[in-house]
Amino acid sequence: MANSMGIRGYHFVEFYVGSAKMTAYWFAKALGLECTAYCGPETGIRDKISFLLEKNNLKILVTGPLQPSSSEIQMFLNLHGDGVKRWAVEVDSVEHAFSKAVKQTAIPVLTPRRYEDQDGFVQEAAIRLYDDSEIVFFNRDNYRGIFRPGFGKPNQNLVTTKEDTGLIAIDHIVGNVRENEMNRWADYFNKAMDFETFIDFGPGDISTQFSALLSKVVRTKDEVIKNPINEPYEGLKKSQIEEYLEHYHGSGIQHIAISTNDIISSIAALRKNGVEFLGVPKTYYEDLRKKNYPIREDISKLEEHGILCDTEGKGYLLQLFTKPIGDRPTFFFEIIQRCEGAEGFGQGNFQALFESIERDQELRGNLTAR
Ligand code: FE2
Repeated sequence: MANSMGIRGYHFVEFYVGSAKMTAYWFAKALGLECTAYCGPETGIRDKISFLLEKNNLKILVTGPLQPSSSEIQMFLNLHGDGVKRWAVEVDSVEHAFSKAVKQTAIPVLTPRRYEDQDGFVQEAAIRLYDDSEIVFFNRDNYRGIFRPGFGKPNQNLVTTKEDTGLIAIDHIVGNVRENEMNRWADYFNKAMDFETFIDFGPGDISTQFSALLSKVVRTKDEVIKNPINEPYEGLKKSQIEEYLEHYHGSGIQHIAISTNDIISSIAALRKNGVEFLGVPKTYYEDLRKKNYPIREDISKLEEHGILCDTEGKGYLLQLFTKPIGDRPTFFFEIIQRCEGAEGFGQGNFQALFESIERDQELRGNLTAR
């Protein structure tokens, strides 16, 4: 076993959304994912509708409600808007991971369960994360069918044209929590799931002229799962974390980073597909040139596509962040390429990045006094 929980890696991420069909279209068209599975009335599921979208190892499930206010999905949407409800890790044994986590203080949500049909069975259990999110322990070693019982082949082709975005897998998933909650959730991961704290950004490490935040990164000891947690810190004005907490109405998932091996091609394709990214000031590239860091990519190409480069620590990483993808200024994606063993999360870019976020925050009228 590579880590004591038997976690093999990320499996899928499930979004709750107002309209699964229209959101699935965005994921297919904008992110270039392929719809591979579907559940809904046609597959015998009466109360919700889900589409599974995939590319390489990236699996995103979008689920929408078919029933009114009694539904757990409707209650989530009413409070948070469209967002990530749960992320699933593939484990060697669902019983082992769940019982170990709960024995070590995890809050149980779903006790281990087996779902079966003529193609075999999958096993699943879940524990609570933040206010209203979940971590799912998932295993489908004994299932030969499409995704999981209840799912079938999609009955429509969602997209006719798309650019190849080259997206590969989830690199990390980030949570935003209220003031004074970060340590509690870092301890939760470390105690319940045997993670370790890898990076700890304290007061003054991440700040702009107006706002600041604290951040801790926890990860499995074999590094297959990396989970940064942010909380707001005192500043002159409301930080992006406070804007998130106000509009999400609580703590939850802020962003998911997706890896690529060729970020220049990925960003070019995503932009062509209509994905909007945060802007980077021109001076950013003047500073990057001055650093004279030996990176393989041509800096003028990075500048042309607005890609950020962090040269902190081992290797270097290239990254870029989308604008919030839904109606509320809450969830967004990051596209990341780790070069020569880079392990960080772009600390060197925080200044440029947060100033860019604050420009958008101001346009929304949310860069106000605390
Ligand atoms: Fe990130």
